[in-house]
Amino acid sequence: SKKVILDVDTGVDDALGILLAVKSGELDILGITTVSGNVSLAQATVNTCKILQFAGAEHIPVVRGASKPLLRQEHFEHRVHGKDGLGGALRDMPLHIEPAEGNASDYIVDQVRRYPGEVTLIMTAPLTNLAAALIKYPELVRDVKEVIVMGGVVMSYGNVTPTAEYNMYVDPEAAKLVFQAGFPSLILVGLDVTRKALLTEEHINKLNDATMQQYVRESTRDYLNRYYERNGVRACALHDPLAVGVALTRSVVTMKSYYVDVETRSELCDGQTVCDFQNRLQREPNVQVCTEVDTDAFLAMFLRVLDA
Ligand code: BDR
Ligand code: CA
Repeated sequence: SKKVILDVDTGVDDALGILLAVKSGELDILGITTVSGNVSLAQATVNTCKILQFAGAEHIPVVRGASKPLLRQEHFEHRVHGKDGLGGALRDMPLHIEPAEGNASDYIVDQVRRYPGEVTLIMTAPLTNLAAALIKYPELVRDVKEVIVMGGVVMSYGNVTPTAEYNMYVDPEAAKLVFQAGFPSLILVGLDVTRKALLTEEHINKLNDATMQQYVRESTRDYLNRYYERNGVRACALHDPLAVGVALTRSVVTMKSYYVDVETRSELCDGQTVCDFQNRLQREPNVQVCTEVDTDAFLAMFLRVLDA
């Protein structure tokens, strides 16, 4: 099966992405690396260990990464993901697994060098760890199989500023480095598609596994309300799970190749992903942008896998 590393800042949707990856049984998850983002590095690491324990996947190593963005300060998202990042779910679960020794960027480099051409990186957080890995080992570009990034938005508005998506906004310098690195395959799963992958209470009610249903209900409860305030619909956008979904089944999305870059020097637009639709800059495409998603197929897969 496909070798992957997940890079996460475990909030509500990262956790659901991890569950999808683990429970699919179709991915060889070498390890999960953590980073500061929705919550602190320490909290993201605890949450990742918790969700692996919940999923019965204690054998997967969790490796800590950057405690802040390359050049900027942290920007947590407690309003969306709750104080603890999991919307209060699993708060009473005694945790008996610990993160592994070592550091995320070294870990990414080591694994990719160990399996050249085989590793897919699924990034669902600010891109600090991957940027740090690239700085240490630029040949990563040649040796990695593929990079799937949940982040950005090219045809619509942002979710943290008017123009920027959260993962891009938090560490735009890291994102720029990753976009400009020259990966042969870099897939962008942005808000253009993830905003259409909405988990509603109706979906949650369909889960047959009672423990899973309870977890999903609890972890998404506040998120649904918060999403309603902004978007007028009670739902949890499955941003990060969709990136995992693309790793599992390419056919759930439609992709188009474009040149994409990230703004890093604007008071108003930092973190904006700028997509050169008409090739005005005359650059080679560097990103495969997801432009459409088969929402029903993805949601059906997501629920089927979580219920397995
Ligand atoms: C992204 O930002 C985070 O809050 C989510 O976990 C997701 O990775 C969506 O913009
Ligand atoms: Ca995330």
